[in-house]
Amino acid sequence: MKILVIGGGGREHAVIKSLKKNERVTTVYALPGNGGIAADAECYPVKATDLDGIVNFATTHEVDFAVVTPDDPLVLGCVDRLEASGIPCFGPSAAAAIIEGSKVFSKNLMKKYGIPTAESETFTDAEQAIAYLKRGSFPAVIKADGLALGKGVVIAQNFAEAESAVREIMCDKVFGASGNSILVEEFLTGPEVSVLSFTDGKTVVPMVSSMDHKRALDGDRGLNTGGMGTVAPNPYYTEAIAKECMETIFLPTVRAMNAEGRTFKGCLYFGLMLTPKGPKVIEYNCRFGDPETQVVLPLLESDLLTIMQAVREGTLSPDVVRFQKGAACCVVLASEGYPKKYESGYEITLPQTGENESIFVAGAKKEGDRILSAGGRVLGAVATAASLKDAVTGAYALAEKIHFQNAYMRKDIGKRALAALEE
Ligand code: AMP
Ligand code: GLY
Repeated sequence: MKILVIGGGGREHAVIKSLKKNERVTTVYALPGNGGIAADAECYPVKATDLDGIVNFATTHEVDFAVVTPDDPLVLGCVDRLEASGIPCFGPSAAAAIIEGSKVFSKNLMKKYGIPTAESETFTDAEQAIAYLKRGSFPAVIKADGLALGKGVVIAQNFAEAESAVREIMCDKVFGASGNSILVEEFLTGPEVSVLSFTDGKTVVPMVSSMDHKRALDGDRGLNTGGMGTVAPNPYYTEAIAKECMETIFLPTVRAMNAEGRTFKGCLYFGLMLTPKGPKVIEYNCRFGDPETQVVLPLLESDLLTIMQAVREGTLSPDVVRFQKGAACCVVLASEGYPKKYESGYEITLPQTGENESIFVAGAKKEGDRILSAGGRVLGAVATAASLKDAVTGAYALAEKIHFQNAYMRKDIGKRALAALEE
């Protein structure tokens, strides 16, 4: 089978490595992929948002199955276009991807169907939002409606910060049309959990839970990033909480999307906060998380392609999704300075990986036989083990063997999770 994967980050590298475990897979194409993914897939320079280019590639290369991973092509309707051209696809339609594409849509959905989430108000006018914030309490959470490269959320500690965030988003349009509407949301507290799930619109099968580390610096300080590391499972996500989330969040969301005529098929990502008043939805994503996927898929025991085909065909059942009992840790190596200014173009030397190790490359380009860093987040060093403690030790041991000039990593990935296990 010829498989096409759209995207070019560490998450896509993890998806590709999992898909390749299936013996039926003969060829994997990645559009655009990257210099590290090139070791596992044939990469072609077609942008993930170039839908015409993608459809043209898929039909001329007679692709048997396509996996669309990033948010923007999903929201633009990449799956609809490929399916209309006769290419079976894993991923939601544009009508369903709106659950991530518009935070106003998803907030209204949760309100309408009684799915627990932060209280909020929607604004299309900056002055009204500012007047509302003036009367409100802090911290307050301000969210641009549309996609904003993961940067559209501001936690304002006081009115001055809130006002400048509103002006940047709504007047200066730092995220373009994504800032035409905003949400002002109640600030929630509690441990955060990421739960990726497979759903065919009828059945929802959660994957192993995970914990992201979004801030740039140790101790959860510094700027928000795309994610500096992950662990799975998330120790705060107990069986009792999982059961509650299934009943109050996962199934109600899938049913709500059906009721709206927007059946979701694909990977539905629940960003949850375990508040003192119970689990609440912080965000939905219409896709695999990055870098959550890098710890979730290495723990998947059953076959990813079989699951993805069942999702598309509407025949998903919980028994095709099996995870091994252990734990996984991903330590991201970034270019020093990320998420602000950084230098790249440095040669990366990679060690051989052992059976319980993986290196998923996020930002690299090929130059002859060498691979050079080409992005903020360069790669993830991943280890699986029977215990979280050993997975963390293993991921750091692997990370220490990877070299490029100006490599930066957090030194405390998994620390909070390990502490929670001891509580
Ligand atoms: P998002 O882009 O929606 O994932 O938001 C980025 C981060 O902002 C989340 O991972 C949370 O840490 C934080 N966040 C978002 N919404 C809230 C909220 N209502 N209360 C507290 N923190 C939030
Ligand atoms: N790691 C968070 C995300 O993928 O949006």
